[in-house]
Amino acid sequence: LDSPLFMCPIGVIGLCGQDGHGDLATARAAARTGVPMVASTLSADPMEDVAKEFGDTPGFFQLYTPTDRDLAESLVSRAEAAGFKGIVVTMDTWVTGWRPRDLSTGNFPQLRGHCLSNYTSDPVFRSRLPQGRADDTQAVVMQFASVFGNPLTWDDLPWLRSLTNLPLIVKGLCHPEDVRRAKDGGVDGIYCSNHGGRQANGGLAAIDALPDVVEAADGLPVLFDSGVRSGADVVKALALGATAVGIGRPYAYGLALGGVDGIVHVLRSLLAETDLIMAVDGYPTLADLTPQTLRRRH
Ligand SMILES: Cc1cc2nc3c(=O)[nH]c(=O)nc-3n(C[C@H](O)[C@H](O)[C@H](O)COP(=O)(O)O)c2cc1C
Repeated sequence: LDSPLFMCPIGVIGLCGQDGHGDLATARAAARTGVPMVASTLSADPMEDVAKEFGDTPGFFQLYTPTDRDLAESLVSRAEAAGFKGIVVTMDTWVTGWRPRDLSTGNFPQLRGHCLSNYTSDPVFRSRLPQGRADDTQAVVMQFASVFGNPLTWDDLPWLRSLTNLPLIVKGLCHPEDVRRAKDGGVDGIYCSNHGGRQANGGLAAIDALPDVVEAADGLPVLFDSGVRSGADVVKALALGATAVGIGRPYAYGLALGGVDGIVHVLRSLLAETDLIMAVDGYPTLADLTPQTLRRRH
């Protein structure tokens, strides 16, 4: 990759685009910047259409594992066929956290039928709908709600691993024991994240979990996100051992305000600041960013 930055999966990013096609806009921004997109399962446009916009930039597919195993297998094989370069399985959101702002505005777009196109375009999902109701929003939403959120356990890891020969990355790990078990189970990468603090309120900052995760990963690539807002944050995460650093909300804001150009501006600004701070502090290459670069203040 050109840079150690990537765009996190954001289900409902589709709605952040003024035209309702934010997934396509994000993929176009990936093509323009070389910063990869991790495309969410919860997408306004089907993954095949998103993948067509990546240009030469590799893309990754994020799987919310449904309780219906056939559907999970179908989603993964579609991602392979569409040319995605890796599968990111999110482990920390089999049930949604307590989100007061969303609750107070009754905001859960999927239950209004938004961002379900990966489901409605899927032959397995469609086959589960009542006869003649494949295009009926209420039937689609009810079926979605009945399969979303599989409480995966370690016993499911061999099955997950068997789904694909693509690199398999598990997202949402913060505890070193989980990292070691995932590694033993044959995953190709660890994704340290607390979901941008959107799941367990008041929990550990993901960056505080990162050093132990990196140590437990013992050489496996470690992707990192949650709370990255500046080039300085990117440098800190890299220095603590992240292989690549993800941003979530900042690019959603860029998209909402300025479409593809808005995302490109956010990414270029972050990359420019990262580059500059490395120059200012005298670290010419990424390899020069080590834990010794940082000093704990507390
Ligand atoms: C609106 C929103 C939707 C999200 N949807 C998903 C998703 O579909 N799948 C997923 O794995 N993570 C999802 N996340 C979590 C992000 O991938 C990422 O972990 C988090 O946003 C990073 O933190 P940041 O926003 O502080 O940069 C979502 C985050 C937000 C803000």
